[in-house]
Amino acid sequence: ERTLRQLAADDRLRVGTAVDMSALADDTDYRRITGEQFSTVTPENVMKWEVIEPQRGVYDYAAADQLVAFAARHGQKVRGHTLVWHSQLPSWLTTGDFTAQELRQILHRHITDTVRHFKGRIWQWDVVNEAFNDDGTLRDSIWLRKLGPGYIADAFRWAHEADPHAKLFYNDYNIEWSGPKSDAVLDLAGRLKAEGVPIDGVGFQGHLGIQYGLPGGLPENFARFEKLGLDTAVTEADVRMVLPADDEKLATQAEGYRLLLDACLRTRHCISFTVWGFTDRYSWVPGVFEGEGAANLLDEDYGVKPAFRAVQKALSGH
Ligand code: G3I
Repeated sequence: ERTLRQLAADDRLRVGTAVDMSALADDTDYRRITGEQFSTVTPENVMKWEVIEPQRGVYDYAAADQLVAFAARHGQKVRGHTLVWHSQLPSWLTTGDFTAQELRQILHRHITDTVRHFKGRIWQWDVVNEAFNDDGTLRDSIWLRKLGPGYIADAFRWAHEADPHAKLFYNDYNIEWSGPKSDAVLDLAGRLKAEGVPIDGVGFQGHLGIQYGLPGGLPENFARFEKLGLDTAVTEADVRMVLPADDEKLATQAEGYRLLLDACLRTRHCISFTVWGFTDRYSWVPGVFEGEGAANLLDEDYGVKPAFRAVQKALSGH
């Protein structure tokens, strides 16, 4: 049977997964499948600020470096995740009493140091992650509050200076749907492009839940971004459900994955389709949404679910 990465290669697209570094270290099946099935990887947590600079000026890239080395050994490209976010910030940063000018320097330094550290080894960077609310307004965060909306353009400029060859992405969830949030991201991307800010793409996370229905019109939505001259990518696909799973829910889940992948396949410059983990054995979902889960392509014992078959089939069909 051909692997997902072999099938995707025919579609000028990379297929990826987020990687949980403790699973990669401890679980041989997990490690084997990660290497065999995927042609790009994203660190689920280990490139986030709280991990790489736990104390001010004390850097720890060890786990992230391990993933980058794993990727190189397996012919995989790396999505860097993520430089500017409101979450998983180190406590020295969130509790420190910094002036706007100090904070701007801190952010500049974080972006510069991190991007330089991995220079030449990151394919796509999620430069700014989740900056919008669902109603299309900018999310209240330490960055917006202290630096104003200009922090977004600055982040892209600084990242580009540090590694001119990395593809720079804005990444968000709930923008698969048409509505105020995807309109706001489109508007931002258009303005950044018009101002010559070095943005290369927009990432659609793709965290779906079958109880909310599935987004229609995805290919048309992707096309709006492509018209701006941007790459697109599905960056964090998973499709959760209220437990217990049953055949009908699993079939709807498969349809959710198919929709996300199909939109990517129909979009000329959609360059990668990444799932946020590939097995129900390790998933962020049950810890955050009580009573929900079973969101991934393989079950807890690495058994193949209908969603995996749907992804295989969609990749074979093009
Ligand atoms: O590292 C600590 C560990 O020391 C401690 O013992 C343990 C106890 O809870 O927590 C560990 O940190 C956890 C971390 O994952 C690493 O496993 C955090 O509590 C936990 O909150 C954190 O969750 C991550 C979440 O982002 C944080 O917001 C998830 O694994 C990760 O899948 C999730 O990923 C995000 C993307 O980055 C952005 N888009 C949404 C997506 C899903 O929420």
